[in-house]
Amino acid sequence: MEGEWVLMVTAKVPSNISVIKYWGKRNEALILAVNESISITLDLDHLCATTTVAVSPKFEKDRLWLNGKEMSLSSDRYQNTLREIRSRGDNFEDDEKGIKIMKEDWMRLHFHIASHNNFPTGTGLASSAAGFACLVFALAKLMNVKDDMSQLSTVARLGSGSACRSLHGGFVKWVLGKDEKKGKDSFAIQLEDEKHWEDLVILIAVVSSQQKEISSAKGAPLTVATSPFLHYRAKEVVPKRIVEMERAIQSRDFATFAKLTCADSNQFHATCLDTSPPLFYMNDTSHRIINCVEKLNRHEGVPQGAYTYDAGCNGFLFARDRKAAALLLQRLLYYFPPNPDTDLSSYILGDKSILKDAGLENINDVEKLPAPPEIQDEVPAQRFRGNISYFICTRPGPGPVMVSDQGQALLDPVTGFPK
Ligand code: DP6
Repeated sequence: MEGEWVLMVTAKVPSNISVIKYWGKRNEALILAVNESISITLDLDHLCATTTVAVSPKFEKDRLWLNGKEMSLSSDRYQNTLREIRSRGDNFEDDEKGIKIMKEDWMRLHFHIASHNNFPTGTGLASSAAGFACLVFALAKLMNVKDDMSQLSTVARLGSGSACRSLHGGFVKWVLGKDEKKGKDSFAIQLEDEKHWEDLVILIAVVSSQQKEISSAKGAPLTVATSPFLHYRAKEVVPKRIVEMERAIQSRDFATFAKLTCADSNQFHATCLDTSPPLFYMNDTSHRIINCVEKLNRHEGVPQGAYTYDAGCNGFLFARDRKAAALLLQRLLYYFPPNPDTDLSSYILGDKSILKDAGLENINDVEKLPAPPEIQDEVPAQRFRGNISYFICTRPGPGPVMVSDQGQALLDPVTGFPK
């Protein structure tokens, strides 16, 4: 295979947030989970990875640039993912450019890969899920892979478990599977698309933190090895919750959805505490946000909000509808006001229309917020200025998309190196 040509594809793949948590593997190499999980895919416009992959006979080795910095591809996870996707490549021909690639050539050709996230890095939001899913989706397009999204999700899973769920939009389940040798049937399926539950609002509270968290890849095996509670959870609790959660999502039953989501997040963090040495992912601010949602729900009588936390201190909140989202935001801004010089429009990212719903135009409106009625008896309430760095307001979103605009590609179409 000779020539100077560069063949290139760019794709965007969204992040996802689980509502029934994946934590722990029964097979570390194949990334087979100890229990099933359910997630919601987040809107691409607010949280996604963009990846450009290129192939050329002139490339000497596989190379990766993440957010502009070259990273090593030597880990087993990258190697397993790349080997698996290469084996699925098909013949490709472009007469105009004089490119002809046969199936078997994919094993010899090298890739250049550049990827970045559309949300600030270093916040604990940059999960590996969108990144690995985007890598697999973009390479599958480049190599003319014929697999459907569920089949592709088994390849993304080899990079990071939660990545398999990002290949579908809307509401997604990662099924356990029975193929213990190859993991071929442990894939993600779509339960409902992103339009199914349009009332649902997602508010992410990015919590200020200096603490360096132990990655899921390192933390979960410790829990598997040391927590008896995790095994009880996987066997006795999650299977029932999966059935109930599927039903709640299908019937848009927010009360059940909220109850299960909060309970499962709390139980996942309880298994982290049951780990030796214990894993602490939430901090005081995370706990205070939980209290705020719980108090609001109790006061309203009917659940208005729900929360879930991954292996970090950021709160992922769900509101029943826009009205509930406005109530929730007012409360959070009351307890955690930003510093007085903050520009509100850079404090609430994503869908900023929530500010109007909450009757907030500028920082003065935040200062004037009254104490929430549910805490009247505790006034003066404690407030924690600056403890939330910012919010992202989003919604359930669609799955992966191809980007045809060459201007958005991260690699130069002539050299195949980062622009
Ligand atoms: C807490 O997918 O990051 O976010 O498979 O080891 O890469 P690896 O772990 P990862 O785990 C995510 C765990 C979680 C819960 C979830 O997403 O379900």
